[in-house]
Formats: sequence, structure tokens, C-alpha cells
Amino acid sequence: MRILGFESSCDETGVALIEVQGDAPPRLLAHALHSQIAMHQAYGGVVPELASRDHVRRVIPLAREVLRDAGLGLADVDMVAYTQGPGLAGALLVGAGVAVSLASALGRPALPIHHLEGHLLSPFLSADPPEFPFVALLVSGGHTQLMRVDAVGDYELLGETIDDAAGEAFDKSAKLLGLPYPGGPHLARLAEFGNPEAFDLPRPLLHSGKPDFSFAGLKTAVLTQVKKLGPNVCEQSRADLAASTQAAIVECLLKKALLALKTTGLKRLVVAGGVGANRHLRETLDAACAKRGIRVHYPELQLCTDNGAMIAMAAALRVQRGLAPADAAGSFEVRPR
Ligand code: KG4
Ligand code: ZN
Repeated sequence: MRILGFESSCDETGVALIEVQGDAPPRLLAHALHSQIAMHQAYGGVVPELASRDHVRRVIPLAREVLRDAGLGLADVDMVAYTQGPGLAGALLVGAGVAVSLASALGRPALPIHHLEGHLLSPFLSADPPEFPFVALLVSGGHTQLMRVDAVGDYELLGETIDDAAGEAFDKSAKLLGLPYPGGPHLARLAEFGNPEAFDLPRPLLHSGKPDFSFAGLKTAVLTQVKKLGPNVCEQSRADLAASTQAAIVECLLKKALLALKTTGLKRLVVAGGVGANRHLRETLDAACAKRGIRVHYPELQLCTDNGAMIAMAAALRVQRGLAPADAAGSFEVRPR
């Protein structure tokens, strides 16, 4: 069975083709991605209307590219999967519209997928996928959650952020430091040259005893420091503030991930979502988990941020677990929230 997956929840158009054969690990046949980052950069953030229009322009050519790379045609597609949400309504509608129409024309099922389930299962695209059960740390631009994952479709939310997401904390702090959108990777690069102990920034909820997060206060503290430093701030102070911000975010993620591992007694951690690409986060988690005999799994670096492969993979794993009805008609109903 071959599944064509579509992702269009925000500022990346992604399409991928995955093959499922019995219980064998699903195989990624081809995938293609177009990032809109350059287009939105001039506005300092994602402009929803521009995002939708660009998805419209890109999605069919990307699907063609994927089929061509796989040496296959539309008739070889047995199921279509698409991101149903969360995300930008107009952007989601593009992927959903194309996927459901295509499935309908081919007489194939259309399977809606939760974007976060895509991230959560993205490490299954790597050569060394995790075994169940595991704790998942989902860190994206819109979400920060800790989950207990017993099987595909069997998820228990252990804790999440009460305000900003970790990616949002990176992005908003980066903006305050005058860095371009999306700030996460830019802040991380600037932080390489900085002293993480130069600024004493808050780590809200660090000692709450629960696997929850709060990053809004950090952003306010960064703003206060930026104002104190003034417009003529030197490059070293900017780097120090970037490093201190990153250290604060990473420490919160580390402490809460360890807490979730301890309370569940599990020895495997999966880190997924855009912030999972952060090198300091990876090194910190790796070191702390190695000491405790915990294995950490990440998606491949290029599949940490949004892509079509993770959506096709989530659909493939659902099919294997009997969670994908063969007559799924695709409701064409998106769920932005
Ligand atoms: O998962 P994702 O692509 O989109 C959402 O579903 O939100 O995550 C995007 C987020 C952005 O906030 C971006 O700044 C952040 O991931 N990000 C990073 C890095 N790469 C991406 N944050 C910190 N360090 C990075 N290297
Ligand atoms: Zn995402």
C-alpha cells in the first residue's frame, strides 16, 4: 500500500510518498518540501493569507515531483493523508482540499492526521526508530508538551505549557534581539559565541513538581534586558543574552523531561518538533539521559521541522495498527485549534 501525505499547516508545503508492506517498517519512497520562510521574512512572521496562496502554488508541483522521484503515478496511490490541524485555517484548507479531492477522484480513502501526531511519530522515519512505550517531548513553534506514548494512537498528555511554546520563546526573544524570523535557529547560532551565565533569566515553574512549562515570563525578562542594554548594544552582549535565553529554555525542557521519565519509569525519550533541531538541547538531553541509562531518539535534523514525510508516516503507522478505516472519506473539515 502506498500513501501520499500532504502537510500545509503553516509555512512549509510538504508532500511525501510512503510504502507499507505488512508489519515491516514503512518505507519513505520520496518526499519534497517548499519552505516559505524567505517570503515571510520581510514581515517578521508568517502572513496567513500569503501562506495559503503559496501553498496553492506549490502543492501540485510538489506532488508531481514526489511521484516522479518515486517513478510512480497517481494510479499507484492507495491512500491520501493530510494534516487536519492544528494550524492556520486557510493554509490547512489547501492541503485538505487537494488531498480530499485527489482521493475522491482516485476512489481512494483520505485520512486526516493531527499535525502533532506527525511530529511525534517522525523519529520512525529514521534508520533506528524507537520502541514503545516512550516519553515524548514535543517542542514546536506552537506547542510544548510531554506525553506518554504506549502505541500509535495511544497517547497520554502528562503536561504542557500554560502560555508560550518553547519555539515561541525562541522566536519572540530572537525578535527582541533584532534577529530575523524564524528566530529559533538564528538565536541558537548567536548563542554559540555567548556566555550562558551572563544574564540571570527566570525559569518559571522549574520547581513546580509537575511536568508543565511557562515561557511568557522569560520573554518579558529578555525584553527588560534588551531595554537596559539599549540600542548601541555590543555584539558580545547580544550573544551573551542569546546564550542565556537558550540556556533558560533548555534547562526547563531538560528538567521537565527528566521529571516525566522519572514518574513514568520509562527509559526512552523521543524529542520531536522544530526546537528538537536545537544543538544545545540535544547535547544537554543526551548527556543527562546517558547518565541515567535513558535512550534519546530524534528525527533526522531535516525532518524536525514541518514536512510531508511525518504526515505520511503517521498515516502508515495508523494503517498498520488498524486505525485507518479503508473507506475514510476525508471530511474536508480542518481543525485550526
Ligand atoms: O515544528 P515546527 O517546524 O513548526 C510548528 O509546528 O510550530 O517548529 C518551528 C519552531 C520555530 O519556533 C523555530 O524557531 C524553532 O522551531 N526552531 C528552533 C531551531 N530550529 C527550529 N529553535 C531553536 N533552535 C533551532 N535550531
Ligand atoms: Zn510543526
